[in-house]
Amino acid sequence: MPEAIVFNPFAYEIHEDPYPTYTRLREEAPVYHNEALGFWALSRFDDVLNGYRDWETFTSTQGIAIGESGEISSPSMIGLDPPDQTKLRKLVVRAFTPHRVGALEERVRTLATGFLDRFIEEGECDLIARFAALLPSDVVSTLLGAPAEDHDNLRIWTAMLLTRDDGVARPPAAAQEASQQLIARFQELIAEKRRRPAEDLISGLVAVELEGRRLSDDEILGFCMLLIAGGNETTEKLIANTVHQLARHPDQRARLIAHPRRIPAAVEESLRFRSPTQYMARTTTRDVELHGRTIPKGEQVALLIGAANHDPRHFEVPGRFDIDRVMERHLAFGFGVHFCVGARLARLEARVALEEIHERLPDYEVDESGVSVVHATNVAGLATLPIRFTPSRPSGAAT
Ligand code: HEM
Repeated sequence: MPEAIVFNPFAYEIHEDPYPTYTRLREEAPVYHNEALGFWALSRFDDVLNGYRDWETFTSTQGIAIGESGEISSPSMIGLDPPDQTKLRKLVVRAFTPHRVGALEERVRTLATGFLDRFIEEGECDLIARFAALLPSDVVSTLLGAPAEDHDNLRIWTAMLLTRDDGVARPPAAAQEASQQLIARFQELIAEKRRRPAEDLISGLVAVELEGRRLSDDEILGFCMLLIAGGNETTEKLIANTVHQLARHPDQRARLIAHPRRIPAAVEESLRFRSPTQYMARTTTRDVELHGRTIPKGEQVALLIGAANHDPRHFEVPGRFDIDRVMERHLAFGFGVHFCVGARLARLEARVALEEIHERLPDYEVDESGVSVVHATNVAGLATLPIRFTPSRPSGAAT
């Protein structure tokens, strides 16, 4: 009798390619039930995609992380279903149109070159601490309209907010404390923007009307928390994972350096290969029959993006990192009504980050012995990425 599969979404080693537990889930238990932790999991591409598409059967209203009941985050559209979610979503998507995101490119590039300048003479660094963790957070803080002196705190609190102890669903005390600090600072910022509106997202939300009324502070706070929590760590992981994989595949990196136009394709492959968001959870609104099993109504189901994006039914040799892969779609940004609002921004940040890294430190090498992974809620990826490179002079770009 084969060994029982134990899948704990808070303690997995995603740096193994392919992650063996995902392979076993897809092949042996496509409808997986973890009785001890009280959740189900779907892992095949078509099942995961359908879970995201069929929001009437798989509701977001009962929490979107396993074991999470929403106690540390403010209520926001990610925890709603249409039509309530649709109305709120319309208010923020306007900040993420191709035009609005395109207009951020120069700012993103200035930030990126500024961070690189700070260590380029040193010839080595932890690329996460000195670059990948800084860029997305500063971009979102800028977008929201937080002043530069707030950026460090907002980044630190957001990272704390998502931390979980290994194998434990409940947020540790430090995460709850960070959540309180973030909330308090955003409340102050919202009050400031009500008094003195500017050209930023919080001011836009302060001014907007929803069905003839202004948004409450709590609703705006919900957006702030969602954008900062959703945009920081995910994009950090995307940048770090892509740099890591390209170091492991020098031939592919050389091709990207010669043909930077291929970078967006490499970013897509990175999103598929090591998806920063490993799963989102839903709750069944009716009994669901699938692959000969029944998931009863009212059960929490993890829709495993990380497993779906390695499903051999959909991707040829999924364990191979291949920037030339032709793929119709991956599920790294989800699918359907909750499809990531920030996908365009994340792609822009990753592209600019790679362009600048290739330009400034083209010969970087990763010290694999110092690479480590982090377990957050549903975001997983590298915690440290030590690199070495030939030092050069700072460009002098201002941050
Ligand atoms: C590589 C980076 C990113 C990844 C992998 C990612 C992943 C995801 C996924 C999987 C969802 C779907 C959630 C669900 O179905 O329940 C989502 C939703 C969302 N993401 Fe992202 N995200 C990234 C970057 C960003 C950025 C940069 C922002 C904004 C600054 C952002 C804001 C959001 C928001 C607001 C939602 C909720 C949309 C809704 O409920 O309608 N994300 N993201």
